[in-house]
Amino acid sequence: VIAPHRLVRQSSHYPVFVGEGILARAVEVVREMDPEAPLFAVVSQRVAELYANAVETLRGQVSAVVTFPDSEEEKTLARVEWLTTELLRAGAKRDAILLLIGGGVVGDTAGFAASVYLRGVRFVHIPTTLLSQVDSSIGGKVAVNHPLGKNMIGSFSLPLAVLSDASLLGTLPEVEFVSGLVEALKSGVIADERLFSIIEEHGSGLQRMVRPLREIVCRAVDVKAVIVEHDEREEGERKLLNYGHTVGHAIEVAERYRGITHGEAVAWGMIAANAIAVAKGMFSREGAERIDRAALQLRPRPTSVREPETLLAAAGLDKKFSSRGNVMILPRAIGHCEIATVTPDELRLGVEAMLEREESV
Ligand SMILES: NC(=O)c1ccc[n+]([C@@H]2O[C@H](COP(=O)([O-])OP(=O)(O)OC[C@H]3O[C@@H](n4cnc5c(N)ncnc54)[C@H](O)[C@@H]3O)[C@@H](O)[C@H]2O)c1
Ligand SMILES: [Zn+2]
Repeated sequence: VIAPHRLVRQSSHYPVFVGEGILARAVEVVREMDPEAPLFAVVSQRVAELYANAVETLRGQVSAVVTFPDSEEEKTLARVEWLTTELLRAGAKRDAILLLIGGGVVGDTAGFAASVYLRGVRFVHIPTTLLSQVDSSIGGKVAVNHPLGKNMIGSFSLPLAVLSDASLLGTLPEVEFVSGLVEALKSGVIADERLFSIIEEHGSGLQRMVRPLREIVCRAVDVKAVIVEHDEREEGERKLLNYGHTVGHAIEVAERYRGITHGEAVAWGMIAANAIAVAKGMFSREGAERIDRAALQLRPRPTSVREPETLLAAAGLDKKFSSRGNVMILPRAIGHCEIATVTPDELRLGVEAMLEREESV
């Protein structure tokens, strides 16, 4: 008798180190996990320029350094093939460990490449943007884009470890910093009031405050890690991470992903979600106002779209929210979000409230 096949979940237990000066010590940390494995680094071109000394040191410690031209347009299958060529030429075998140094573009593209290179080699994320430290390096999702959609080709593949260096964030363009900060603010509203308060208190000034910044990264990583651990394949609880993302995504699509960062769109999406939660009677007006203010002080750029219909049609929300409604993530308190059913009327109301808010700033 053959026992029924049981799906065994991957374990998401891998260490996440958060500190300062970690980039310079990356090889040392990885060597503690595996003293022998040949190491190969894939480094964001921008990071290689900005941190030339650290990358030069790295060259002396690893078998090869490949620089990666990171922009969203490079997140392609063609880049995966290119990276495969680079790694084959450099002699990377099954026992290799790849160090992926850069933002979400490098992590997602090279992480996906690692997951298929010779049927999969180990990799370490060394995220260098706030967004990648608090979001994309956690959770085991790697992917590249397809002409018909973002992240359409990918896999679930866990890193050996994540090394986050908060002292690298000072060189980020402010819009990129803010984009990551919104994701952290989001995680605060979902599950960590203290995280929310730190961002509420200091706003984008955090970019020059390494200590609190480190606390933010740690707390945001905790929020995402705990949720993801309970739901690695995105079946339930992981949906909570989509707070602000329903309307946020529609904004990104309506703007064709130009002129507004992901985080800015999510900031507006949170404001829409808050209005819906208040209208449903599940969240206080004061609570919503507090989140709105914290989001607005990060100065997200407004959308160019002015009509609710255009926004609702953009990502097919008009169809998705059929008469029976659809699920959205709404706050009940700062530090607690829930999966709720939202009717098309409620959604519309949220979008209208958000558009009004945009006009008032
Ligand atoms: N896998 C996931 O779960 C997940 C989650 C969220 C987002 N993502 C993906 O992440 C990507 C966005 O990531 P991102 O925001 O890090 O973008 P990014 O990788 O494009 O980096 C943003 C910009 O910052 C530059 N940069 C990187 N580090 C720097 C530093 N220390 N100083 C100065 N400049 C630096 C980069 O060159 C780039 O121009 C998207 O493709 C998105 O789909 C993935
Ligand atoms: Zn997001």
